[in-house]
Amino acid sequence: MARNVTVGVLGTGRIGKLHAEHLCYRIPEAQVAAVADVRLEAAQACAASLGIAKAVADPRVILEDPTIDAVAICSSTDTHAPLIEAAAAAGKHIFCEKPIALDLGVIDRALEKVKKAGVKLQIGFNRRFDPNFRRIWERLREGAIGEPHLLRITSRDPAPPPIEYVRVSGGLFLDMMIHDFDMARYLIGAEVEELYVMGGVRVDPAIGKAGDVDTAMVVLKFTGGCLGSIDNSRQAVYGYDQRVEVFGSKGMVSTENNTPNRTRLATTEAVQEELPLHFFMDRYIDSYVLEMKAFIESLLADRQPPVSGLDARVPVVMGKAAKLSLEQNRPVRISEIRA
Ligand SMILES: NC(=O)c1ccc[n+]([C@@H]2O[C@H](COP(=O)([O-])OP(=O)(O)OC[C@H]3O[C@@H](n4cnc5c(N)ncnc54)[C@H](O)[C@@H]3O)[C@@H](O)[C@H]2O)c1
Repeated sequence: MARNVTVGVLGTGRIGKLHAEHLCYRIPEAQVAAVADVRLEAAQACAASLGIAKAVADPRVILEDPTIDAVAICSSTDTHAPLIEAAAAAGKHIFCEKPIALDLGVIDRALEKVKKAGVKLQIGFNRRFDPNFRRIWERLREGAIGEPHLLRITSRDPAPPPIEYVRVSGGLFLDMMIHDFDMARYLIGAEVEELYVMGGVRVDPAIGKAGDVDTAMVVLKFTGGCLGSIDNSRQAVYGYDQRVEVFGSKGMVSTENNTPNRTRLATTEAVQEELPLHFFMDRYIDSYVLEMKAFIESLLADRQPPVSGLDARVPVVMGKAAKLSLEQNRPVRISEIRA
C-alpha cells in the first residue's frame, strides 16, 4: 500500500463527522476521498465543512471506487454487518463502529466474510485508546501491581438518551455497558467466565416501561480468578463519570475523571474542583483520534489492527449473559450463551 491511506466514510452523523474530521486534519497519513450518507444533505454538509471532494447517498459508490483503500463504517448499528460484508467483498479494509450487530449469527457471518476476503478490520472500542485507561493497561503489563485481584469500573452517563433511542438500542447492557465489558477484558487480559447482574429503574420510569433498566451493577469472575465489578447509571447529575481501579497483590492503580482544567478552589467552607468533562465527545476525544491513527498505521505496516473481530463479538456475548442474569436473577456462565 502507498504511504497514504485513502478512506471513504460511510455515515456522517455524530460519530461519522468526528472520524472524518480526524482523518482529514489530525492524521497526516490519511485522506478522505468521499463520504456517503443515505441522507445526502448530511453527507454534503460534512464534505463541504471538511473540504472533501465527493459526497454521495449510496455507500456502493465508495465501495466501487478503486482509489479508496479503506472505509470507516459510522452509520446506524443495523447497517454495520451488511456494510462490512459489502466492503469485504469489495476488498476494502474496514474500520467499523461498535457494535457490529446485536445478533451473534449476524456478527459471525460478517466476520467470516472479512476473513475470507483477507481485509483488515478494526472495531471502534475507542476507550482502549484513552490515555488514562491505556496507562493502567501498561502498568498492569509492567507488573506494577502484581497479580490483579479486583477490577472496579464506574461508568455513568450524564443524562439518559431519548426514549425512542432506548427502545431500539438493545438495552443498557448491549448499548452502554458493552464498552465496560470490553474495558474489563482489555485491562485484565483474560476472559470473563461468569457474571451476575442486579439492575433497576432509578432514573426514569419511562425507561422501565420501554423494557430496560437505567441502573445496574455487575459482578464478574475472570478465568484465572480475578473478580470485577461494573456499575452503570444513565444519569450522573455531576457529568460523565468514568473511573477505573485495579487492585492487585503488589498495589493498586486507578484513574479519576478528566476535568476541563485542574484548578481547585479552597475556602473556609470547602475545597472545590471542576465537574468532569460532560460526555463522551469531550472526555474521549483523544481516544477517537488515537484509535483511527492505530487503524491507519496498521494498514501502512500491514499488520492486524489492535481491536479485532473477536473483540467485537465477546462483549456482545457478555451483554447477552448480563440480560439473562437479570431476567433470571442468577449467576450466568458465559458458555451458556450460544449463537
Ligand atoms: N464508539 C463510540 O463511542 C460511539 C459513540 C457514538 C456512536 N457510536 C456508534 O456509531 C454508530 C453511529 O452513531 P451516531 O451517534 O453517529 O448516529 P447518527 O444517527 O448521528 O448517525 C448515523 C448516520 O448514518 C446514516 N446512515 C444510516 N444508514 C446508512 C447507510 N446504509 N449508509 C450510509 N449512511 C447511513 C444516517 O443517515 C445518519 O446520518 C452507531 O453504531 C453507534 O453505536 C459509537
